[in-house]
Amino acid sequence: MTVDSMEIGLQGTPQAALMTALTERAAELEACLDGLLPLQAGLEARLIEAMRYAALGGGKRLRGFLVMEVASLFRVAPACAARVAASVEMLHAYSLVHDDLPAMDDDDLRRGRPSTHRAFDEATAILAGDALQARAFEVLAEEDTHSDPQARCELVCALGLAAGARGMAGGQMIDMEAEGKTLDLGEVARLQALKTGRLIQYSAEAGAILGRAPWQVRTQIAAYGRDLGAAFQIADDVLDAVGTAEQIGKTAGKDQAAGKATVVSILGVDRAEAQARMLCEQSKAHLEHFGPEADRLRALASWVVARRN
Ligand code: IPE
Ligand code: IPE
Ligand code: MG
Ligand code: MG
Ligand code: MG
Repeated sequence: MTVDSMEIGLQGTPQAALMTALTERAAELEACLDGLLPLQAGLEARLIEAMRYAALGGGKRLRGFLVMEVASLFRVAPACAARVAASVEMLHAYSLVHDDLPAMDDDDLRRGRPSTHRAFDEATAILAGDALQARAFEVLAEEDTHSDPQARCELVCALGLAAGARGMAGGQMIDMEAEGKTLDLGEVARLQALKTGRLIQYSAEAGAILGRAPWQVRTQIAAYGRDLGAAFQIADDVLDAVGTAEQIGKTAGKDQAAGKATVVSILGVDRAEAQARMLCEQSKAHLEHFGPEADRLRALASWVVARRN
């Protein structure tokens, strides 16, 4: 990524600083995840291999980055932030493994390689998703994550809310129910807020929880995450419509083929992009009380809508 920024003349800009930070934090996160998912002997070894396959070695690491970047605003110890980042990425990896199953989006390609049920088998993929989710909560609850049990409890509760029936899983249900139906823009916005927005909002908020930020500040960070998440999913819809499998590392054109309710299906690509840009500006506006220390979060919002992967 740093090479790309040099090639397109971004040196010294906030975007270049963001690309460097994304690369550095992704490496830190990878090392943490590797340590949290140790290989195991015995008949269950296949499960751990599938968990590692799904969670390690790929992805943009947007959610993990958000945790670490927001936590750094509050001078949280990087090792603690990395553990929470790893938890969110495990939860996210589980959601992708299940999303790709034949019973859901039936996708054979993920992060540029066979999806987990193709690399292993369906039963193993289901179990790997289950176990990644469980491990995510376990890591949050462990003492190394934060010295204050109250903070750990808040991290666990908020992730449960973001991932469950009122969050990601609920959104995935609406996504499946909406296949082949015509939803209006408000209904699609709600679908996307649940399936994608809640976990991205949580990622930002978790950094503030770790930093014991005052309630008002936590609310501003959460609002930033909420609008960023909305913009992110619209960009995902746009990339599904206009991207290539090589660019996005997953099958392109699947949404239309499956009759998914997306912002692109309602507004078309150009207006969907405009909507994403508007949400990107709205997300940055929630950071108005922060100074230059939040510049990378601002740059992240711009990247989320301009990205091509
Ligand atoms: C894909 O998320 C699923 C959505 C919520 C759109 P990402 O695009 O963040 O996937 P990775 O982690 O980079 O592979
Ligand atoms: C998936 O949305 C969201 C979750 C996994 C929770 P999509 O189905 O649009 O994600 P992709 O496009 O397969 O990554
Ligand atoms: Mg899906
Ligand atoms: Mg999908
Ligand atoms: Mg998609």
